[in-house]
Amino acid sequence: VAAAVFASGTGSNFQAIMNQDGRFCDIALLVCDKPGAPVINKAEELGVKTFIFNPKEYESKADYERVLLEKLREKDVSWVLLAGYMRIVGPTLLGEFPARIINIHPSLLPDFPGLNAIGQAYDAGVDTTGVTVHYIDAGVDTGPIIEQQEVPIHPDDTEEQLTERIQEVEHTLYPQVIRRVVEENS
Ligand code: GRF
Repeated sequence: VAAAVFASGTGSNFQAIMNQDGRFCDIALLVCDKPGAPVINKAEELGVKTFIFNPKEYESKADYERVLLEKLREKDVSWVLLAGYMRIVGPTLLGEFPARIINIHPSLLPDFPGLNAIGQAYDAGVDTTGVTVHYIDAGVDTGPIIEQQEVPIHPDDTEEQLTERIQEVEHTLYPQVIRRVVEENS
C-alpha cells in the first residue's frame, strides 16, 4: 500500500511516520507547498521522493490539485496523510480520496480548530487539551474523528512546555492510528 505525506513545515510528524518500526505502508511521496521548508531535507535524507510546488504559480486550487492528483496516481498512492499541511484540501483531491485523507491536529476537536491550536488552548486557560486524528472534509478541522488523546495542561506550564508535551503525543499517536486505519481499510 502506498501513501503520500503532505507537509508544509518542520516535518516532525513526517519523521515520526518514517521512524515507525516495520512500516506498514510505503511512503511513496512527500508533497510540500513551501519551497525551502525543513521537511524537504528530511525527506531527501530518508530517500523519499518529493514533489514541491508553489501554489502562487497556479491560477487556482483546482489547477494545482490536478497536478498533485497526477503525481499521486503515478505513484499508485491510495492514502494521503496530512502532517502540518497548511492548506485546505479542495474537491479535486477530496473527490478522488473519499475517507482516504487523514489529518492530525493539536487540540481536542471540535475545540480550538484552525491555526495555533496549542496557543489557543493555553490562552483559554483550560486544564486539558490534546491531539486529534481525523478524516478531513471540506471544512477546517471538521471531518470525522478517528481517535483523540488528552494532554494535561499544568498550572505552571509555559506554552513551550505544553507544545513539547503535545508533540510527544502526536509522534506516537499518529503513526499508530495511521497503521490501524490503513490495515483495517486496505
Ligand atoms: C503538528 O502540530 C500538527 O498537529 C499540525 O501541524 C503541526 C506540524 O508539525 N497539523 P510538524 O511539521 O510535523 O513538526
